[in-house]
Amino acid sequence: MSVLVFGRSGQLASDLQHVAAARGIALTALGRNEIDICDRDALLRAIDAVKPQALINAAAYTNVDGAESDEAAAFRLNETAPQAMAQAAHHARLPFLHVSTDQVFEGTKKGAYTEADATNPVNLYGRSKLAGELAVAAANPEASIVRVSWVWGPSADNFVKKLLQWASVRDELSIVNDQYGRPTYSPALADALLTMATMPHRPHGLIHYAGGDAMTRSDQARAVLAASRTHGGPFAHVKDVPTSAFPTPAARPLNAELDVSKAHALGFKLPLFADSLSDCVAAIVKGLPR
Ligand SMILES: NC(=O)c1ccc[n+]([C@@H]2O[C@H](COP(=O)([O-])OP(=O)(O)OC[C@H]3O[C@@H](n4cnc5c(N)ncnc54)[C@H](OP(=O)(O)O)[C@@H]3O)[C@@H](O)[C@H]2O)c1
Repeated sequence: MSVLVFGRSGQLASDLQHVAAARGIALTALGRNEIDICDRDALLRAIDAVKPQALINAAAYTNVDGAESDEAAAFRLNETAPQAMAQAAHHARLPFLHVSTDQVFEGTKKGAYTEADATNPVNLYGRSKLAGELAVAAANPEASIVRVSWVWGPSADNFVKKLLQWASVRDELSIVNDQYGRPTYSPALADALLTMATMPHRPHGLIHYAGGDAMTRSDQARAVLAASRTHGGPFAHVKDVPTSAFPTPAARPLNAELDVSKAHALGFKLPLFADSLSDCVAAIVKGLPR
C-alpha cells in the first residue's frame, strides 16, 4: 500500500506518517515547500512520481481567528487546494480522502450533528471549509469527506498542550464550559484514514469521525490537568466561564458534537478521551520526542 499525503509537519500529517510507519504502509508526505497544492498539474506530477494507491489531504488553513482577516488565504487552502486535489484524484482514478471540520455547523442544535444536518458556519474558517467540501464533492463524487473535531495528540500544538503551558505559569485557568464536543485523538484519526483509504467499500461523500465521548472544554481541561498532576506535570484549578467572557475574532459553534453512528457502523474504533490521555500527557510532560 502506498499513500500520498498533502501536508507534512502538521498535527494530522505527522501522525499519518507515524501510524503508516507502524503499519508498514509506504507514505509520502508533501509539505508547503515541496508542492503548490492549488496547482492541479503539480499534483498530477506528484501522483505520477509517487504512484500512490490513495491520496489524503491533511493540509488546511487552520488558524480559526486568523482566517477572519485572511480570507483569500483561507479560501485558497481550504477550497481551491482540495478542489484541485479532488480533480487530480478523479483524473488519476485514485481514492481521495479530504478532512473537514465540525465548524461547518452553527452549533445551536440540541444533540449531535449528523452527516444529513444542514450546515451554517458561524465564522470564515467554517465558510472556507464548507466551500472546500462542496468543491470536492462536485469535482469528485467518489471522494470521502471526513469531518473531524477537537483534534489533539502528542505531535503538535493543540488545546491539551496549551493547557499544560498555561498551567505551568498560572494557578487558575478560566476555561469555557458552554462549548461541547468530542475530542479526537490524532493518531486514532490517522489510523482510521489509512484504513478508509484501503477499504474495498470506502464511504463516498460525508462521514463524521470523532472520539467516543463528548464533553465541555472545561471538563476536558480538568481531566488533562489531573493527568498532568499524576505524572508530576503542571497543574491548575479550572474556573468555568461562558464563551461570552472570551471575545475572539471568530465566533465558535457552541455545540460541536458530531454524530459518529455512521463511522461506528462501518467498524471504526472511536476511542474515549480517557483511553489515550494518561500516556499522551505523560509523554508531553516528559517532553519525549515523537
Ligand atoms: N486541529 C483541530 O482541532 C481540527 C478540528 C477540526 C478539523 N480539523 C481539520 O483537520 C485537518 C488537519 O488539521 P491539523 O490539526 O493537522 O492542522 P495543522 O497542524 O495546523 O496542520 C496544517 C497543515 O496544513 C499545511 N499548510 C498550512 N499552510 C499551508 C500552505 N500555505 N501551503 C500548503 N500547505 C499548508 C501544513 O503544511 P506543512 O506540513 O508544510 O507545515 C500542515 O501540514 C484540517 O483539514 C483541519 O481543518 C482540525
